Amino acid sequence: MATSSLALHNVSCFSAEHVNAGTPRIQSSRAAGVFLSVKSSQSVPLNSFCGLKSVGACTSTNLHLEGDSLALLRSPPGGVRDLERMFTPGQARAAAYKVAVLGAAGGIGQPLSLLIKMSPLVSDLHLYDIANVKGVVADLSHCNTPAKVAAFTGAGELAAALKDVDVVVIPAGVPRKPGMTRDDLFNINAGIVRTLIEAVADNCPNAMINIISNPVNSTVPIAAEVLKAKGVYDPSKLFGVTTLDVVRANTFVAEKKNLRLIDVDVPVIGGHAGITILPLLSKTRPTVDFTPEEIEELTVRIQNAGTEVVEAKAGAGSATLSMAYAAARFAESCMRALDGDPDVYECAYVQSEVTELPFFATRVKLGKKGLEAIVSGDLTGLTDYEQNALEALKSELKGSIEKGVSFASNGATVAV
Ligand SMILES: NC(=O)c1ccc[n+]([C@@H]2O[C@H](COP(=O)([O-])OP(=O)(O)OC[C@H]3O[C@@H](n4cnc5c(N)ncnc54)[C@H](O)[C@@H]3O)[C@@H](O)[C@H]2O)c1
Repeated sequence: MATSSLALHNVSCFSAEHVNAGTPRIQSSRAAGVFLSVKSSQSVPLNSFCGLKSVGACTSTNLHLEGDSLALLRSPPGGVRDLERMFTPGQARAAAYKVAVLGAAGGIGQPLSLLIKMSPLVSDLHLYDIANVKGVVADLSHCNTPAKVAAFTGAGELAAALKDVDVVVIPAGVPRKPGMTRDDLFNINAGIVRTLIEAVADNCPNAMINIISNPVNSTVPIAAEVLKAKGVYDPSKLFGVTTLDVVRANTFVAEKKNLRLIDVDVPVIGGHAGITILPLLSKTRPTVDFTPEEIEELTVRIQNAGTEVVEAKAGAGSATLSMAYAAARFAESCMRALDGDPDVYECAYVQSEVTELPFFATRVKLGKKGLEAIVSGDLTGLTDYEQNALEALKSELKGSIEKGVSFASNGATVAV
């Protein structure tokens, strides 16, 4: 199976293959009681290194669905079922989507912009920052990939940066220094996200919004409140980017168990801070046996992986390169979904009813209109360790959500 040398396009395959385990319940954003069974094909060798798994590694069949989702999934609006054709070199989909990166001059923003510039799906790439971003644009514009890059600097150019954009990626804000938690960033980043989302609401209300700025557990609820106040909130378009937690989990499990990196997929649920990051190791694909000690060690390492980087950088910031990689993967997934690819699954922090909390990260199915379904089946059949960890994370996550909602509603913070 050939793959495009440019595309970051394996994403759905990780997840579709993962969905293959049993018949997981899908909670549809439009219709309740929807079930999806996906059968994966054999793993295929990785023919070109894109850092992600070959798209050819899975196909989905045996869709047992009801209602709107049945129609939607059987006949995806773009009618695109042939992933092989889609990503065969020379037959890649035409560049069609406008992407804006807000905070593009930063540690994440620059490598993320480079990776997005490499996507064959991008026609226009708008880089916005309060710092000068012209140099980044001049530099990137010399890469001979289709995306046209443009610079927008300062609040006066924000509206133009966002006009008619399809996907907005937001890494704007301050990163952690050693000793800080993600919540310590709240006071600065909450206001930044609020301002940027107001502009998104005014200029590209239909865009898929990818929020990277920490604390994600609070900045996503802030964004939701801002969009509601503007009358344009669509929960299926708002995503907290937790892809890095999945990327780390996959890497650490593959290393520990001596597996091919490309084969490993671990769903990570909950939120994106400390114990709210819950890797479901029992749901790892391929099936792997872990000792209780390995589970504890891997879970704690995945939860603290960001801190591992913050400490190693010793004051120079937090994860930037791996984050850029993860965010590029998520943005590419959004574009593939917009493009009609019917097999796009990612973990993301979204408005959700899988627990009593209003926002929660799980695997989600992405489609042309954004979040199409939540894979709630991952929350059934948990081990005692995972069930206890799930109960333990809820109060912290609830506090972070309430803090964000309160900030957006009153401009105030609440103690958590
Ligand atoms: N979701 C995740 O998994 C994850 C992982 C790593 C880092 N992060 C978060 O991403 C954010 C960015 O991290 P970084 O390392 O790139 O930081 P950075 O300081 O290197 O870059 C941030 C950029 O944002 C810009 N910025 C600040 N205020 C802005 C505004 N109002 N509008 C537009 N741009 C603005 C800055 O000028 C800077 O260029 C931090 O909040 C960090 O905690 C999230």
